[in-house]
Amino acid sequence: MHITQLNISNVRNLLGTSLLPCKNGNFIFGENGSGKSSLLESIFLISRGKSFRARDIRTVISESATDCIVYSTIQNCEEMTNSIGVKRCMKGSLEAKCDGIRIKSSAELSALVPLQLVDANSFDLVDGSPSARRKFLDWGVFHVEHLYSQAWSSFQKALKQRNYALKYESGANLTVWNNELSRLNKIVTDFREKYLLDFVSFLQSAFNRYEPLKDIEIEYNRGWAEDEAFEDILIRSETTDRLQGYTSSGAHKADLSIGIGKIKARDKLSRGQTKLLAYALKLAQGELFKKLTGKKCIYLLDDLPSELDEINKMLVFEHLADLDCQFFVTGVDKSDFLSHLPKKTCKMFHVEQGNITECNY
Ligand SMILES: Nc1ncnc2c1ncn2[C@@H]1O[C@H](COP(=O)(O)OP(=O)(O)O)[C@@H](O)[C@H]1O
Ligand SMILES: [Mg+2]
Repeated sequence: MHITQLNISNVRNLLGTSLLPCKNGNFIFGENGSGKSSLLESIFLISRGKSFRARDIRTVISESATDCIVYSTIQNCEEMTNSIGVKRCMKGSLEAKCDGIRIKSSAELSALVPLQLVDANSFDLVDGSPSARRKFLDWGVFHVEHLYSQAWSSFQKALKQRNYALKYESGANLTVWNNELSRLNKIVTDFREKYLLDFVSFLQSAFNRYEPLKDIEIEYNRGWAEDEAFEDILIRSETTDRLQGYTSSGAHKADLSIGIGKIKARDKLSRGQTKLLAYALKLAQGELFKKLTGKKCIYLLDDLPSELDEINKMLVFEHLADLDCQFFVTGVDKSDFLSHLPKKTCKMFHVEQGNITECNY
C-alpha cells in the first residue's frame, strides 16, 4: 500500500500544499523550520487522526485557520485506489472519510493505513518507560489480530472498574472484577504471546543486519509472576492493591526488556546506536507485518541522517529497500541522501517556508 497523492491544508505552516509521492523512497529536505516534520505529521493524521508531536490538536492547526484537512489517495495491496480524508477542528472533533463513507474510530483509520513512525521520541523504545514498548508490541498485534483492539479496550475498562472497586467497594464487587479482569488478561496475553512467537526471530535477524546490534537480546515480561496463576495473584495482592489504589499486576504491566547479556541496552549503547536499534525494531515489525498480512506499512522517518554514520545510514536504507515499502524520510541537507537514492524508485522534495516542490537530483 502506498500514498499516491497528498493535499494538505492548514497543518502548521503548510497552508496549502500538495505532492505526488512515489511508491518507494521519498526524500524531503529543507532548512530548520521549513515544514518537514509538519509534512510527516500530516501523513500521520491520515493514519491515526492525531499528531505524533502534540496532544492538543489546536497547536497543529495553522494559526490563521480554524481547521486542518489532509486528503490522500492511496493504492492498496489489491491495486485498488481509496481516497481518505481527515479533518480536525479547533474544538477537537475528528472527521474522517474513506471513499465518502464516514470512518467511526481512529482504530478503523489505523487499520486502513498501517503506518510506522521513527522520530526523536523513538529513543523511548530503548530508554523510556515500559508503556512505549507495550505500544510498540501492540502495534504489531493490532495489525495482525482483528479481535485484539476490542480485547485490549475491554481489558482496560475492566482494569478501571477493578481499580475503582479497590478504592471504594466491598470484597464481593472486587471478586466480580477479579474474574472479568482474569478472563480478559488471558485473551490479551495470548494474542501478544502468539505474535511474539514469530516476532522474536524477525527481531533477531533485523539485529544481525547491524554490527552494533548483533548481541542485543529481547526478553518478554508478561506483567505478572511467571510461576503463579493470575487469578491467585489478584487475590493475594488485594491488600497491597487496596493500599496503592491500583492493580499492580497484569497485561497492562507487560514489557520487553532489551539488553546485551545482563546489561540493559540503554546503559550500553551510544545515542547513535540507540537510534539504530529503534530503526531495527520498527523495521522488523514491518517485515513481520508484511509476512503475516501480505501488506506493507508506510514508514515516516523524521530526521534520519542526524546521529547516524554513513555505514549505518546505508544499512537502514538497504533494510528499507528490502522491505520494498513506501517511506518518507526528512533531513536538512540534500547531500545527506544523494548516495542513497536509486533514481528509479525514489523522489526528492524540497520544503521551503511551507511550500513543497519536487526536485531533480
Ligand atoms: N500552528 C502553527 N501555525 C503556523 N505555523 C506553525 C504552527 N506550529 C508550528 N509552526 C511553524 O511551522 C514551521 C515548521 O515546523 P516543522 O515542520 O517542525 O519544521 P522542520 O521539521 O522543517 O524543522 C516552524 O517554523 C514553526 O514555527
Ligand atoms: Mg523537524
